[in-house]
Amino acid sequence: MSSPTLADSLTPLSRDAGCVFAEQEAHLIAHHARTPAHAADLAERRAAGTPLEHVLGWARLRGVTVRVDPGVFLPRPRSALLADLAVGLLPERGVAVDLCCGSGILAAILIAARPHARVHAVDLDPNAVACARRNLPAHRVHHGDLCAALPPRLRGRVDVLVANVPHVPTDRLRLLPAEARLYEAPLALDGGPDGLDVLRRLARQAPGRLAPTGTVLVETAAHQAGTARKVLADAGLRPEVRTAPTATPPSSRPPPGDPRPRPASSSVRAGEPVRAPATRPASSRVSYG
Ligand SMILES: C[S@@+](CC[C@H](N)C(=O)[O-])C[C@H]1O[C@@H](n2cnc3c(N)ncnc32)[C@H](O)[C@@H]1O
Repeated sequence: MSSPTLADSLTPLSRDAGCVFAEQEAHLIAHHARTPAHAADLAERRAAGTPLEHVLGWARLRGVTVRVDPGVFLPRPRSALLADLAVGLLPERGVAVDLCCGSGILAAILIAARPHARVHAVDLDPNAVACARRNLPAHRVHHGDLCAALPPRLRGRVDVLVANVPHVPTDRLRLLPAEARLYEAPLALDGGPDGLDVLRRLARQAPGRLAPTGTVLVETAAHQAGTARKVLADAGLRPEVRTAPTATPPSSRPPPGDPRPRPASSSVRAGEPVRAPATRPASSRVSYG
């Protein structure tokens, strides 16, 4: 249900609780709630610190809405860069993998943009797998560790392997905003001493899964991009770094679907060494920037 009056009545609650986008959040809650009492209940959960996406039960990125369950990583607006790169590289009838899929948002964006592609998803956390199976074709969501969870028939056939791996250095976990520390599983965040442990393992595994013109897309914080590039190059890949726009401070979490740019992060894109230059898409050529 939605009415300007209801949203107006909820706004002070969000504002008093320190929500930066109080008015927009109040409108989303008012629109989502079934009754005024339900709206008040949701607004109180939000005011108590529950992330907006968990209050609503959904998150949106690039116009695609997915269900998000408690404990599952909440899609970040900055991952739109990763999603855009993946969509741009995936052929109409290509094969894509969303490794470390969480809710499955990146796979869902790929399916929306390329309905004839075969898109698989993998996560190690059973909660995330259950959530992703509600957002994606369930038979294409696999439970397990990185590439080991993929069907063997995908060896050498993946056009786009996108992976928003956990990449927070372990000693920085305690510095994360409460919404991440308290509401997301450590497995979704902890990337080991320098944040790149999972990426190192992925870099060793990915080349065996890629098609000759395939590409790996990963996301890191800006300060990790140099090391990430080296890790991927050492694995025989050809890395290229793209940087998401810098804008709002980290504490100002916009409501789901808000298109405002987020703090800088880098998408490191790594294509395999050129094996078939004549057919290699131009967008996969190496360039550093
Ligand atoms: C940063 S979240 C990304 C979720 C989603 N791709 C997104 O962008 O919203 C990382 C995800 O990786 C999963 N994960 C962590 N280690 C993994 C592993 N070894 N194999 C597969 N998934 C893993 C976590 O459970 C979590 O869902």
